[in-house]
Amino acid sequence: MAPIVEGNQTVVCIQGLGFVGAAMALAVANARKRDGQPVFDVIGVDLPTELGRTRIDALNGGHFPFHATDPALEEAASLAAKTGNLRATDDVASFAEADIIVIDVHLDISTGENELASANLEPFRGAIRTVGAHMRPGALMIIETTVPPGTTEKIVAPILAEACRKRRLSEDAFLLAHSYERVMPGDDYFASICNFWRVYSGHTEAAADLCEEFLGQVVNVADYPLRRLRSTTASEIAKVLENSYRATNIAFIEEWGRFAEAVGVDLFEVIDAIRMRPTHSNIRQPGFGVGGYCLTKDPLFAGLAAREIFDRPDLSFPFSEMAVRTNQRMPLAAIARLTDLLEGDLTGKRILLLGIAYRQGVGDTRYSPSHTFLEEARARGAHVIARDPMVSYWNEAAMEIPPGLPPANEVDAVVFAVAHREYLALDYIDWLDGATPVVLDANAVLDDRQCKAFVAAGCKLSSIGQG
Ligand SMILES: NC(=O)c1ccc[n+]([C@@H]2O[C@H](COP(=O)([O-])OP(=O)(O)OC[C@H]3O[C@@H](n4cnc5c(N)ncnc54)[C@H](O)[C@@H]3O)[C@@H](O)[C@H]2O)c1
Repeated sequence: MAPIVEGNQTVVCIQGLGFVGAAMALAVANARKRDGQPVFDVIGVDLPTELGRTRIDALNGGHFPFHATDPALEEAASLAAKTGNLRATDDVASFAEADIIVIDVHLDISTGENELASANLEPFRGAIRTVGAHMRPGALMIIETTVPPGTTEKIVAPILAEACRKRRLSEDAFLLAHSYERVMPGDDYFASICNFWRVYSGHTEAAADLCEEFLGQVVNVADYPLRRLRSTTASEIAKVLENSYRATNIAFIEEWGRFAEAVGVDLFEVIDAIRMRPTHSNIRQPGFGVGGYCLTKDPLFAGLAAREIFDRPDLSFPFSEMAVRTNQRMPLAAIARLTDLLEGDLTGKRILLLGIAYRQGVGDTRYSPSHTFLEEARARGAHVIARDPMVSYWNEAAMEIPPGLPPANEVDAVVFAVAHREYLALDYIDWLDGATPVVLDANAVLDDRQCKAFVAAGCKLSSIGQG
């Protein structure tokens, strides 16, 4: 792909080096030409904050900034350091060097007194203004941040036009596109960027063409062809709709889990049977809860966009909003089940909570259901001891998380909340050493053999979704 400055290597800037941006920076740095040479020089830009500096220093030191079970990220970081085509910085002047700028900053929402979600757009706007003040005429900006539909056209494009006016450039001096990430932290973290389908769109045809050319060099498009949509609002809707679908599918199963438990049925067995129908193969199953930075907020973006961007407060999204509320309350089912196991009272009980991250194989604790569980258990007088092989400090709870397990005779209950692979490998009989805490498998973590071993050892065992 031709760089703006002839004779130079194409330079890609990634703004925001979080769970998405840091992995994307490595994916772009790892792109290779036929002769094995790197396609791009990559500059990662984050804020001059403590958090930003940690991420910048990790990448500059040849490391992925987060604890990940997928070794491909650490390998890619080390290869990029060896090749010398990735540097990270907090210097915003770097945007002036770029042919392509990928926006991977966060965009938070808050819920007001009227229970309606509202976008906290100002930091996002500020990030775009910063880039607009520095980027080269002719450069391409790709929005990867998950945004309320309409944002690229109605918020980003006007900011860039304004930046052009201030710099006495023609208003269409920049190219603008939208392409969302489907990155999935966990065992296939890196592959979920390079070996996965992508949707994209351009504010103009020229921007869409350039975005396609760029993605074609980072993504394995031979096996995972790209999909172009007709407008940036359409591809923004695609992102929000697919996450809303997933969140709703999960929430839908919640009431069936309670039903199965009440009437003595194993809902996992029922769902396995239903999944044999190809049309129903992705039906979800009972679980501990929904966390992370995406499914907890993205289903609220459509309603928010209708109200705040398109001035259509008459449009409502009751399914999506109910899904978010249902999923938030899900860990309370585990609290209720545990209370039953402990004869109706959690007061003074010592609960070992196994799993803090929002899903298996990741160390990300943002909006984790374990936090809801922790707060509710404490409110009922319980003492919670938390462990997670991927987490050494639980930010949201301000708790140090030591490795290993406490002695079994020091806990009254064990709750399996996250299916980290370490929990499948543990020898629980050895750990129990004669103790008999009650056991709640809240997320289908244990296999049959382990369940039987707990019961044979004298522990009362219960599972979410199984009567
Ligand atoms: N985490 C996921 O699995 C995932 C998957 C798909 C999409 N997304 C979306 O990707 C976006 C980023 O998510 P994330 O999990 O990487 O968030 P994150 O909070 O981990 O990372 C965001 C980074 O942006 C930096 N930042 C903020 N403002 C900046 C600025 N003005 N200049 C430079 N850096 C700035 C922050 O310091 C932070 O390091 C979100 O919109 C999210 O919804 C996330």
